[in-house]
Amino acid sequence: MADILEKPQQITFDVTDRCQLRCVTCSKWKTVASDVISKELSTDDWKKVLSDLRNWLGEGFWFCFSGGEPFLRQDIFELAEYAHSLGIHVASMSNAFSIQHLYEKIIDSPIESLNISLNAINNPIIHDESRGREGSYEKSLDAILTLKKLRDEKHSNLGINIATIVFPENVEEVIPLVEFVTKNKINGIMFQLLDDKESFHGYNYQKGCNTVGYKMPKELRVKYSNMAKRMIEVVDRLIEMKRAGHSIYNSYEQLEAMKIFFNNPDDILKEIKCDVGSTNYAIDPYGDVRLCFNMHPVGNIKENSPEEIWTGEKAIKCRQMTKTCKMYCRMLNCNFKHNFANFNKSFFHKLKNKAVKILTGKF
Ligand SMILES: C[S@@+](CC[C@H](N)C(=O)[O-])C[C@H]1O[C@@H](n2cnc3c(N)ncnc32)[C@H](O)[C@@H]1O
Ligand code: SF4
Ligand code: SF4
Repeated sequence: MADILEKPQQITFDVTDRCQLRCVTCSKWKTVASDVISKELSTDDWKKVLSDLRNWLGEGFWFCFSGGEPFLRQDIFELAEYAHSLGIHVASMSNAFSIQHLYEKIIDSPIESLNISLNAINNPIIHDESRGREGSYEKSLDAILTLKKLRDEKHSNLGINIATIVFPENVEEVIPLVEFVTKNKINGIMFQLLDDKESFHGYNYQKGCNTVGYKMPKELRVKYSNMAKRMIEVVDRLIEMKRAGHSIYNSYEQLEAMKIFFNNPDDILKEIKCDVGSTNYAIDPYGDVRLCFNMHPVGNIKENSPEEIWTGEKAIKCRQMTKTCKMYCRMLNCNFKHNFANFNKSFFHKLKNKAVKILTGKF
């Protein structure tokens, strides 16, 4: 029997490839602003996509502004307002490097969930070296703590989350990061395994990768192997902490998958299937749509509607390729359901704040 094609559940707008950091894990920052600014979708283009998506999907999808650094787009708040006016719940990622002047605006905006990247808590050098710019640790930390303080003072609905990549140098930071989240009443934390740097590329220069016949680079395999033993212990501790109520967004399924992966990365290809072809819909800064961020686009939003692209020939072919794909980026967060926790957290937070506002008479 043929599979029934569901509608996508996770929509990402990579609104720009531009970025001010120089992360060693990512090459989006190599994008030259003057090469791309005139090619990026306009505010009206994005608004049209938002309203097409809303008409097609209703309200029941997870939505996130990402990039590059989304706050480099001057119209990000206008887009968030527009999405909100359509009933879409808005999340955003940020490296927090230049949002200090935007704190109040973020709090007053309809963004429900802000995921700030932070790769260490005890040792700032680990974070700064991974991000390629001194001072980025300080800025991420300031954003997390100041936004949390402002959010609480203003009884705003903003969910503040931490997004952490796990790599050999920061394994010992993982548990302290969770403790930091709990101690400071941050909404939650989401861990993501370091993936091949080639997967995180600017779309202006690289439309897609050759995923067929992919071989993990030796250097990356060595990194995984060096951290494997300790990571299995750390993940066991994460599972215990999650059971005890610490706000770790990774699902138990994903945490167990991490253990399988660190025992033998190749086992994960049999144990976890990659679902992005039937769940994900990512639009790049130039309007190209991908189901898998590594594969070539399946259409462009300026030429066809989101639904036509989803059901079109190219999407069908891409979906088939995802089913036989042998890449390890299936371990990334976009292939696991926990991302929805962001929305739920924010939703419960909103209920709590609504109660506070009623009790204090502040509306
Ligand atoms: C591409 S960034 C875009 C948003 C924003 N610029 C930021 O860094 O938060 C999205 C997330 O991917 C993570 N990331 C970057 N390179 C990665 C890699 N090689 N493997 C896994 N995650 C990576 C970043 O740390 C960030 O949390
Ligand atoms: S991970 Fe984010 S902050 Fe780092 S270079 Fe890539 S887009 Fe920029
Ligand atoms: S594992 Fe999934 S996300 Fe990675 S390239 Fe294959 S289909 Fe795409």
